Amino acid sequence: MIILLFGPPGSGKGTQGRLMIDWMPEKIPSISTGDMLRAEIAAQTPLGIKTQSIIAAGGLVSDDLMNEILRSRISQSDCQNGFMLDGYPRTLEQAEFLDKVLTERKLPKPIVIHLDVPADVLVGRMVSRRSCSKCGQMYNVLSHRPKVDNQCDKDGAPLIMRKDDQEEVIRERLKTYQAVTRPVLSHYPSDQYFQISGDRSTHYIFEEITDILERELKNRLTAVA
Ligand code: AP5
Ligand code: MG
Repeated sequence: MIILLFGPPGSGKGTQGRLMIDWMPEKIPSISTGDMLRAEIAAQTPLGIKTQSIIAAGGLVSDDLMNEILRSRISQSDCQNGFMLDGYPRTLEQAEFLDKVLTERKLPKPIVIHLDVPADVLVGRMVSRRSCSKCGQMYNVLSHRPKVDNQCDKDGAPLIMRKDDQEEVIRERLKTYQAVTRPVLSHYPSDQYFQISGDRSTHYIFEEITDILERELKNRLTAVA
């Protein structure tokens, strides 16, 4: 199964993605292009150095670079049974590129899970987001506090704030999403597209997503039989 987790910055893609991967009956990797780029920046690789100022300003990395990253990642062996993409595609060109790669590799059409959250909620969520510097576990100083201030519950590592979670950068990221990324949704037909209200508790959102995925898994099994 191929899942696209779609939604504006701060809509909960990373949060739901982690839960979904643990839930999936057949193990598939979660691929966050944002996490991949942040790892390149942290390691100061040529790709990290090239993209860090774009990300810090809230813009989008070029389609050519992102498409190459995607192609190379999904050709790895752990993607054979499918994968979940968080934060890709973000432009129409990326969506068309993904279609082409999926067809080439004889992979099924993706299921698009769109987490829809009003912009005013998103800014508040991102300025209060913190994540573990070691395992990436997500926290929020308002809605999901760690047991000990500034320490990850799982491994005790310090929590960090993302560089692009400054209010002015967040506003830029939201503008980019509205202008360039949201319109990509119309690329997907209604039988592949599921809109979910993401302004509810994590638990209810997850329940709705797993209901959809369960139904889709069943439909696909019936179609094969
Ligand atoms: P990326 O890392 O993908 O960032 P993003 O899309 O802006 O999304 P976020 O990671 O900020 O939010 P999220 O939806 O994962 O929410 P989260 O679960 O953390 O991309 C970063 C940058 O990389 C881009 O700006 C771009 O420059 C570049 N890039 C990446 N992919 C690219 C591509 N394909 N093409 C070009 N450029 C690309 O949740 C947020 C907070 O809310 C957390 O604190 C969480 O605890 C809390 N929260 C979550 N759910 C709930 C809930 N239900 N109720 C209350 N709080 C909640
Ligand atoms: Mg994320």
